[in-house]
Amino acid sequence: MGRPGMEIAVRVSGPLDREAAMHTQAPHSADLSNLWMPFTANRRFKAHPRMLAAARGMYYTAADGHQVLDGTSGLWCVNAGHGRQPIIDAISRQAAHLDYAPSFQIGHEDSFLAASEVAALMPDGLDRVFFTNSGSESVDTALKIALAYHRARGEGQRTRLIGRERGYHGVGFGGISVGGIAPNRKAFSAVLLPGVDHLPHTHDLARNAFSRGQPAWGGEPFADALESLVALHDASTIAAVIVEPLAGSTGVLVPPRGYLERLRAITQKHGILLIFDEVITGFGRLGAATGSAFFGVTPDLITLAKGISNAAVPAGAVAVSRGVHDAILDAGAGGIEFFHGYTYSAHPLATAAIRATLGVYRDEDLFARARALSAPFEEAAHALKGRRHVIDIRNLGLVAGIELAPREGAPGARAAEAFGKCFDRGVLVRYTGDTLAISPPLIIGEDEIGRIFETLADVLATVD
Ligand SMILES: Cc1ncc(COP(=O)(O)O)c(C=O)c1O
Repeated sequence: MGRPGMEIAVRVSGPLDREAAMHTQAPHSADLSNLWMPFTANRRFKAHPRMLAAARGMYYTAADGHQVLDGTSGLWCVNAGHGRQPIIDAISRQAAHLDYAPSFQIGHEDSFLAASEVAALMPDGLDRVFFTNSGSESVDTALKIALAYHRARGEGQRTRLIGRERGYHGVGFGGISVGGIAPNRKAFSAVLLPGVDHLPHTHDLARNAFSRGQPAWGGEPFADALESLVALHDASTIAAVIVEPLAGSTGVLVPPRGYLERLRAITQKHGILLIFDEVITGFGRLGAATGSAFFGVTPDLITLAKGISNAAVPAGAVAVSRGVHDAILDAGAGGIEFFHGYTYSAHPLATAAIRATLGVYRDEDLFARARALSAPFEEAAHALKGRRHVIDIRNLGLVAGIELAPREGAPGARAAEAFGKCFDRGVLVRYTGDTLAISPPLIIGEDEIGRIFETLADVLATVD
C-alpha cells in the first residue's frame, strides 16, 4: 500500500523548536474566572485546568511543556496538521494586503476563487457555494436555502424539516431543532423550530457491535422510517431531510450499508431535499474529498466547515446544487434573491486560509493518504477489542469510536477519566458520553496511530 506524503508527516510532526518550547513552558498567569468556556464543565475545568500552549504538525505542546499527540485533529478540524507554513503565509499575506472586505453587494477576487476551488471538490452538480463562518452557520444557512427553494417553486407549504435522533448540527436554533441530542435541546425546548421531526438513529449495539467499517444490519429498516414520516406528515409538507453521513460528535455512528442510498431514493421520490452535514466528513476524513463521494451518494446540499480552512481561520460553506440555486435566483425578480448572509461571509482571511488549505490537501494528496491509512487504523482500533470496559469499536476512514460500558450511576465518567489520563500520557482523544473518539490529522504516521491506541489500551487498564 502506498504511503503518499509520509515524508511530509515526518517533516512537520516533530516537536516544536527549542525556543518555542521554552516559551510554552512558562506557567500560565491568566485569571481563569472571566472566560465562560463552551461545552465545558467550567468549575471542574478551572479547578484542574489542562492548557494547550502551542501546536505543530501532529503535536500540541501543553502549558507545562509536555508534548501531546493530537488524536482528534483539534475538534475534527485540523486535517492537514498544525502550523502548516503555506496556510500561515497565506493568512499573513492577506492580513497585510486586504484585511476585510464587505461581502454584501461587493466582492473580492479571492472569495470567487475560493468558491471555485471548493466547488471543484464537491460532487458533480453541487457547484454553487455560500460562505459562512462555522458549521452551525452552515447548517442554518442550508435549512433556510431548503425553505427558500420550495417557496421559490411555489411549494411554500413544504416547511417541515426532518433530522435524526443523535444528530449533531451545531448550536443555532435551526441546528438544535433538527439535531437529536437531548442535553443540547432541553433548556430551549419551548422555542425550538416548529414542524420538525426526527428519524431514528442508526446505532444498534445488539446487532452491529464491533463492525469493521459500515455495519451490515439496518440500512433499509432505518431508512424506511422516512417513509413512515412521509406517510404521517405527507410529502407535500416536507422541505428537507438533514443527516450527517457519518455521525461524529454523537459518538461515531457509521451508517449501515445501503442506508444513505435508500435515504436518497426516498427523498428523491417525494421531492424532498437531502442535506448531508459534512462538517466532519468533508475534506478527507473518510479518505475522499467528501462523505458523499466516499459513499457514492449525492445529496442536494452539503454543509461544510472545520477542515475547509484547517481551522486556521473560522470558516464554513454550503455547497448547493445548481438546480436549487437557480430556482431561488430565478424567483428573485432582479433584487436580492436570498435574504441571508454574514458580515464575515467570505472574509478575506478565511478565503486565504481555505485556498491555502485546499492547496496543501492537493499537493500532499492527503485524501489518498487517509484512504491508504484506513486499513492500519482499523486494525489498531479493533486491537482494543476485549480490553476492559470496551463494548463496541466502530470505524471508517480515519475515524474510530471506542464505546465503554458506563459506570453505574455515572454515565460518561469512565470516558472522562480515560480522556484525562490519555492527555497526561501525551495523547489527545475526545469523549462523548462513554464513547472515546479518535480522528487524527491526515498527516499521521503508522507509528503514531499505534501510539494512540496503545496508550488507550494502557489507560483503560487503569480505569475502574
Ligand atoms: C456535523 C456537524 N455539524 C455542525 C457542527 C457545528 O460546527 P461549529 O461548531 O463550527 O458551529 C459540527 C461540530 O462539531 C458538526 O460535527
